[in-house]
Amino acid sequence: MGATYHVLNFKDLNPADLLEHDFSTDVLIGLSQMPKQLASKYFYDKKGSRLFQEIMELSEYYLTGCEFEIISEQKEKIYLEMAGEPFNLVEFGAGDARKTNILLEYFQEKGLEFQYIPIDISEEAMSALIELMNRKFPKLKTEGIVAEYFDGLKCLNNTEYRKNLVLFLGSNLGNFDKAHSRAFLHNLWNILNNGDIVVIGFDLKKDIDLMLKAYNDSKGKTAEFNLNLLRRINRELNGKFDLEKFRFYAGYDVFSGAIESYLVSLEQQQVFIEKISQSFIFDAWEPIHTEYSYKYLESDIEELAERTGFLIKKQLYDSRKYFVDSVWSVNKQSPNTLEDGR
Ligand SMILES: C[S@@+](CC[C@H](N)C(=O)[O-])C[C@H]1O[C@@H](n2cnc3c(N)ncnc32)[C@H](O)[C@@H]1O
Repeated sequence: MGATYHVLNFKDLNPADLLEHDFSTDVLIGLSQMPKQLASKYFYDKKGSRLFQEIMELSEYYLTGCEFEIISEQKEKIYLEMAGEPFNLVEFGAGDARKTNILLEYFQEKGLEFQYIPIDISEEAMSALIELMNRKFPKLKTEGIVAEYFDGLKCLNNTEYRKNLVLFLGSNLGNFDKAHSRAFLHNLWNILNNGDIVVIGFDLKKDIDLMLKAYNDSKGKTAEFNLNLLRRINRELNGKFDLEKFRFYAGYDVFSGAIESYLVSLEQQQVFIEKISQSFIFDAWEPIHTEYSYKYLESDIEELAERTGFLIKKQLYDSRKYFVDSVWSVNKQSPNTLEDGR
């Protein structure tokens, strides 16, 4: 058994997909737009993945502690959904899977038969995870896939078992805007079988200062994490960003319900990126949008499940009700509920 991973072969994708997955193309398109933007999926190079682990240790970043508590104390409720039939445990954006480890241990203790399929865009994060799995769970069959979420979905057709448990933890879904969340969940619904289980972590709307502090942490780790994206462009695309000339800013939009993260140019400047043969002009105080982190009401979660063809089976809250791991099942009995992911 043991753990291995493979990088999804982009030659298998059509040209439109290929375009989407090119870091340099995305940087070119993102910095040519008004307002400028860079996608948060590119945060996670080696240094970015390490910085995110440090963010998870911060008490201000309450999300990790809440979800850790939920999984530690309510793992049996997830186990009860899966007892009976062998299954694939698929995890989108697995990262270091530190919360998932609790479930893996528990499922093994309970004698469940399953294989683990972590999917993550970051090869650095995946190779560290596979090393950990070989050390900690040598008997568990683990087949990691380095891929973007939407491409990862396409790999789920050839899995070992019929039944699936899909994890999407850490409020990763909150990085998608409404349209992309629906599209992703609807595509997931299409690939899964009736009765499959999906567990999604949602960060709930709460005191605004508390949410803001999670992103404007006192150690400046989130700022470093965002600025590292410019460092990555410098290293991989031979860019000439001076990190001292940008600052991080995160604010909360009460109307959309998202923490929105930016890198703001501190002066008027021109930055050349050699690999894309392009200079970009920044005005003083011009922002680059880097990330959405949507927060949810319970009614938002109910609406999302209903519109994408899922039934909510259980809501697993932490003791402060800051966060919920929402346990859904795939409902293919009443197609009227579906709206083509719109
Ligand atoms: C915020 S971390 C969360 C990790 C873990 N799920 C947790 O809850 O601790 C996000 C992880 O998802 C991965 N990721 C981000 N965007 C992605 C995308 N579009 N496709 C695939 N993986 C992605 C990152 O590489 C990172 O490991």
